[in-house]
Amino acid sequence: MQNGQHQSGQGQNGQGQEAVEFGPELETKVAEIISRYPKKKSAIMPALYMAQEHIGWLTDAAIEWVAEKVEESPAHVRSVATFYTMYYKKPVGQYHLQICRTLSCMLCGARDLTAYIKDRLTVDAQVITEDGLWSFEEVECLGSCGSAPMIQINDVFFENLSVESLGSLMDKIAKEKPDLRYSAKKETLGEGMPEAPRSQAWNAEMVKFNKS
Ligand code: FES
Repeated sequence: MQNGQHQSGQGQNGQGQEAVEFGPELETKVAEIISRYPKKKSAIMPALYMAQEHIGWLTDAAIEWVAEKVEESPAHVRSVATFYTMYYKKPVGQYHLQICRTLSCMLCGARDLTAYIKDRLTVDAQVITEDGLWSFEEVECLGSCGSAPMIQINDVFFENLSVESLGSLMDKIAKEKPDLRYSAKKETLGEGMPEAPRSQAWNAEMVKFNKS
């Protein structure tokens, strides 16, 4: 059971859900974030992130908590959550891979990356591996088309990937368990993986360009 959860119920998506205690620290933080905006509803996105960080995904209770805080309907808050793939509508693994399948990434090898992930994890999309470490899904353009093909793992982009570099990256993540999450409570991104393929591939190209 995760932080702050107790008591089972049945969620809108048919999955078992649990009531949630958000606690005074989160209540104070969300109130502080809401106070930065002229309208409470402007804080929907950081509040959703905060609820997701606390529970691991956006349960009905999380949507309702955010709706109450920003004084909007749960339906409106849910419409925001369902628009963005960075909000999880189902439980995910410790590392959730979001493979971009839109044009640039598709032309540069996204299908091969997806095939590799399916083969390696032997689970379907949106299903968590038995060890709890991984889950994956295909998503539409993540706005990094110039460095296709790319994958978002938790809240960090990994770009210019090949099947080989993705394999090494996943090995490294499984071994080192880096923090790849954005924390809405601390308002910081985890330490990431500075030496990951993203910078290697980009820097190699820049070096070539600068030498010519
Ligand atoms: S097409 Fe993949 S990031 Fe835009």
